[in-house]
Amino acid sequence: MVVVKNICCVGAGYVGGPTCAVIAYKCHHIKVTIVDLNQARIDAWNSDKLPIYEPGLEEVVFDRRGKNLFFTTDVDAAIQEADLIFVSVNTPTKKAGLGAGMAADLAYIEGATRRIAEVATSSKIVVEKSTVPCRTAESMRTILEANSTGEIHFDILSNPEFLAEGTAIKDLFNPDRVLIGALQTPEGIAAQTALAEVYTNWVPEDRVITTNLWSSELSKLAANAMLAQRISSINALSAICEATGADVDEVAYACGRDTRLGSKFLKASVGFGGSCFQKDILNLVYLSTQLNLPEVAEYWKQVYTLNEYQKKRFVKKIISTLFNTITNKRIAVLGFAFKKDTGDTRESAAITLIKDFIQEQAHVAIYDPKVEHEQIYMDLTEPTVADSRKQVEKSISICSSAYEACKDADAVVIVTEWDEFKSDALDYQKIYDNMHKPAFLFDGRLLLDAAELRKIGFKVHIIGKNELAGTA
Ligand code: UDX
Ligand code: UDX
Ligand code: ADP
Repeated sequence: MVVVKNICCVGAGYVGGPTCAVIAYKCHHIKVTIVDLNQARIDAWNSDKLPIYEPGLEEVVFDRRGKNLFFTTDVDAAIQEADLIFVSVNTPTKKAGLGAGMAADLAYIEGATRRIAEVATSSKIVVEKSTVPCRTAESMRTILEANSTGEIHFDILSNPEFLAEGTAIKDLFNPDRVLIGALQTPEGIAAQTALAEVYTNWVPEDRVITTNLWSSELSKLAANAMLAQRISSINALSAICEATGADVDEVAYACGRDTRLGSKFLKASVGFGGSCFQKDILNLVYLSTQLNLPEVAEYWKQVYTLNEYQKKRFVKKIISTLFNTITNKRIAVLGFAFKKDTGDTRESAAITLIKDFIQEQAHVAIYDPKVEHEQIYMDLTEPTVADSRKQVEKSISICSSAYEACKDADAVVIVTEWDEFKSDALDYQKIYDNMHKPAFLFDGRLLLDAAELRKIGFKVHIIGKNELAGTA
């Protein structure tokens, strides 16, 4: 029987960092070493200011760091010591070559796998943790087997991470399920059992699901695609609501009360963002195309297309409401992260919106409580366009409070649902007093009480609601 005593996690990002920190927190008898090639990132993990913001993460890391939780760039030593290795490296969408814009770039997975093969001096369980296309484990196995000698054996598991950013620690402490896929061979099943035993230190046994390798890989893509599909469904309905006078909150509530549907993930928005949804849908589309299933590819592609449409629709609404031009107008954008309680901006709707505002020659004043200023400049700059950074610097100001961003603005746009932007948390009267009139307010997150704001004098547009509904 294999008993895991020493874990190495390759990749100290949003997935590997919190996941393995929680394993260390829950399993004091296991030594956990998280490695990364990026020295600055590792230094941050070893400092008082962690490289990612997650509620509850500091408590977990500060409690175990230096005891059974270590962060280092000495990748090889950690690989050699470990019985089990999580591969949690980044898998962005390919930018060039075959499948560009669709397929996942597996160069980092391949790099990490080759490194494991090269330096391992004893048998290992290698766990695919990054979100990857179905059948990536097969490629990892080929690389590892081509490099394994008689004495060293590698078992590959798929153990996709289902945590959501902003609630990572909560999700890891109390997961709906832990999924572990393995080849159904005696060795594969033994490895699967060994990893299951790590999780059952704190996760009830009936929540640990074991499947074959391919089911596990596909389930991750499927879960994210179906979650995103619900958002695109409610967002498609939000357009119908705005055109008819139905209220998207009421529709979502009425539908969600059907226990077959459930109430979660029915919040209309300016569009989903984050590192997973878009990437995983595009992976699924690419996979379907590769498997010669064009109708299936087209079906999932529509979830992505609708999301792009939702962002553009919101921008168009803003421009048409501001008398068809925002040139030289000041637009205050509240929120830049892809959701609240995170500083992560990957695929955030804010990026698309603000690029469009800049294109229209507006001046954009941005405030987000957690996103680093440099990150905002990087996200808005087009690397292939000369002078793009300078143009961005001229077109935006990054503010240190919502009040500063909204001062002298023609319109305020809520893009991220941070609690501090709610009606009872911000003094909207003060914001109104300091704005140009008419003072327009666009809520892309169903965060605000339109009636209250209209009483102050704002012209309010809320996604999925028709301004005139109920007044006729
Ligand atoms: C449906 C709605 O469920 C009900 O709320 C509404 O009032 C009327 O339409 P009904 O058509 O009677 O009810 O049956 P339902 O159980 O929803 O099944 C519809 C079809 O979907 C059936 O052919 C069923 O076999 C199929 N189905 C249902 C599946 O293929 N898979 C499922 O998981 C569920
Ligand atoms: C997602 C999955 O939830 C998680 O299980 C997986 O492991 C990684 O991808 P994450 O991207 O961190 O997690 O956040 P999530 O809460 O799913 O939100 C994704 C996007 O959808 C955000 O932009 C969010 O604002 C948006 N969203 C979510 C909506 O617009 N409406 C909703 O009802 C829910
Ligand atoms: P995710 O959201 O999937 O966790 P991140 O980009 O936040 O993605 O983190 C992935 C991390 O993996 C990065 O910090 C990157 O430096 C690291 N990484 C990529 N390839 C390797 C490798 N071969 N060895 C060690 N770390 C790696």
